[in-house]
Amino acid sequence: MEVSIVREPLPESGTLVVFVGADGTLSQAARRLDERAAGLVGRARALLGPKPRHAQVVDLPLPRGLELDRLVVAVLGAGEELSPYGVERAGAAVLAHLERQRVEEAVVASPAGLDLGGLDEARAVVALAAGAELRAWRFDKYRSDAQEEENGRARVKALRFLCDADASQAFARSRAVVEAANWARLLVSEPPNVLYPESYARILEELADLGVEVEVFDARRLEELGMNAILAVGRGSVHPPHMVVMRWRGAEWDRPLALAGKGVCFDSGGISLKPAQGMHDMKWDMAGSAAVAGAIRALAARRAPVDVVAAVGLVENMPSGSAQKPGDIIRTYAGRTVEVLNTDAEGRLVLADVIAWLVRNRDPAAIVDLATLTGAVIVALGKERAGLFASDDDLAAKLERAGEETGERLWRLPLDPEYREMVKGEEADLKNVGRGREAGAIAGAAFILPFAEGRPWAHLDIAGVVWADRDRPLLRKGATGFGVRLLDRFVDLWAEGRGGA
Ligand code: BES
Ligand code: MN
Ligand code: ZN
Repeated sequence: MEVSIVREPLPESGTLVVFVGADGTLSQAARRLDERAAGLVGRARALLGPKPRHAQVVDLPLPRGLELDRLVVAVLGAGEELSPYGVERAGAAVLAHLERQRVEEAVVASPAGLDLGGLDEARAVVALAAGAELRAWRFDKYRSDAQEEENGRARVKALRFLCDADASQAFARSRAVVEAANWARLLVSEPPNVLYPESYARILEELADLGVEVEVFDARRLEELGMNAILAVGRGSVHPPHMVVMRWRGAEWDRPLALAGKGVCFDSGGISLKPAQGMHDMKWDMAGSAAVAGAIRALAARRAPVDVVAAVGLVENMPSGSAQKPGDIIRTYAGRTVEVLNTDAEGRLVLADVIAWLVRNRDPAAIVDLATLTGAVIVALGKERAGLFASDDDLAAKLERAGEETGERLWRLPLDPEYREMVKGEEADLKNVGRGREAGAIAGAAFILPFAEGRPWAHLDIAGVVWADRDRPLLRKGATGFGVRLLDRFVDLWAEGRGGA
């Protein structure tokens, strides 16, 4: 889909979208049409019902006096609904409506003239465009009929947003983030025969084109370094593990902010094999790594004045004669020993090594990891919010705020010292499972905590939010790209907190 923001007069033909307020006020564009077509838009109130809802979208019957093919009216609400995320939802709703109506091209008039809350015209239009672009993305590269209509929904080919103010800078910045989020969704959607540690590492290397410093550690390097936890997880696969380190240095900071991501390209469970039902879902067990790679891509593409280093552990968890076994004891990169009691609790092993490597080699000021770590977090929080664990309240508060602002919401769960007892080992320092069904998401977090070695650390268990089984406000069902927009915003908050970036 081609999306542009242009300064042009209202079109005389084609499909036009205009905005009205939930309280019945008309945008400037709506008022102009209303005058031309004798109260038409005003009468749209009947179609919108007595209580127009934010992001409600209707088609108006076209009267004489207008040469348009189609006139669409969309509602902007008030208060929280006029946050950037709220306006993105309205842009997404417009796009979804146009798809349902099989409209291929449309012009979206500016909402100027309405109360836009704290947003100026340019920022509102940019948010509308971002919402539309996120909602339009789909994973159809393997469908031979991709160009044809699917489920009765056509594809919108071009959207032109009208804006009298200069939106070019805000649009370029927003685009960088939207494209990175859609890229993360592609990575998460790719099937495991296409995306495996080596092929994934090759894709991440391309971030160098944006000025990102990319280092790839293959299995031999990991062996030299003693990263035995990630190596143990990958032992059963013909695709050897890799670690990829990506750094965007858009500013000179004493110490970088670090991100870490679980990149399990396929999680069969290993010898502790998962049931067949739903196992294919475990292609998206690398969504944490896609989120942090997407965040780096967004920061680099918008040339953010920050210094952020991200490391991802790419590995396939497979059963075979060479796979690690329940009962194995491994020595992690940090030196701590672990009893592997369940080979399906592999994500925490991967993160243990990746996080310890970051701490010991990149001296980060703080570390945030993202991982589809536990089914238990889905039991606790469902699919609306990801679990947040933190050793540091300030870090947690910034992440929570970024989550609320981007709609990628978090909920903090406890990590009292008592919980750490759950992962103390019998014959080694740690064991990789907790106490059966008790507080499974917390046990996962408690396992990772010591590997941050006292640095401010936060862990996002995103198992419930990376794949949507139905359409969501900003996305159709499938990979959500969760974490890219959240981290992009969080990094800005972090930079502000250190006294300006
Ligand atoms: N990747 C899974 C977590 C997961 C499960 C994500 C279901 C999404 C849906 C993780 O590696 C895993 O298997 N965790 C185990 C841990 C247990 C063995 C302690 C789990 O949650 O069952
Ligand atoms: Mn697993
Ligand atoms: Zn897993």
